[in-house]
Amino acid sequence: MERTFVMVKPDGVQRGLVGEIIARLERRGLRLVGAKFMAVSNEMAETHYGIHKGKPFYNGLIEYITSAPVMAMVWEGVNAVAAVRQTMGATRPTEAAPGSVRHDFGLEVGRNLTHASDSVENGQGEVALWFSEDELVDWKRDTDRWIFE
Ligand code: RTP
Ligand code: MG
Repeated sequence: MERTFVMVKPDGVQRGLVGEIIARLERRGLRLVGAKFMAVSNEMAETHYGIHKGKPFYNGLIEYITSAPVMAMVWEGVNAVAAVRQTMGATRPTEAAPGSVRHDFGLEVGRNLTHASDSVENGQGEVALWFSEDELVDWKRDTDRWIFE
């Protein structure tokens, strides 16, 4: 089953939106595989966002993500990467589709509430970066046959 790494960023935690965001992913039919509430070290932030190093928003991004705790999670399901990106909405909240998390709760790109892996390959890398194998739960859900064909 496809897995993706999802994070409620510090603004989402501070604004009390962790439950709301988890509820949306649950209702979508995705299955939670792992979760931890944690502070993000500078080293972790730099590894995770290494691809953006050198960009004008990089320093602000590292500051933002390390400024307060985050909720780090792994979710799985058919087309989990694409489904979660759609549920979160476009990077810029003013370009995000109505009904998406970023549209419904955000205004600025630098306070866009969530992170979600952007490809299956990056998803695998990010899951491995943020979680050890023993933090991930392999389980079957009683409703799976009503969600996965
Ligand atoms: P994410 O990685 O956080 O899921 O977001 P994304 O794929 O939609 O966007 P990405 O291009 O990967 O950018 C990562 C995060 O950097 C911040 N950003 N700020 N000020 C800016 O122009 C700017 N551009 C990107 C956002 O927090 C974005 O989510
Ligand atoms: Mg990204």
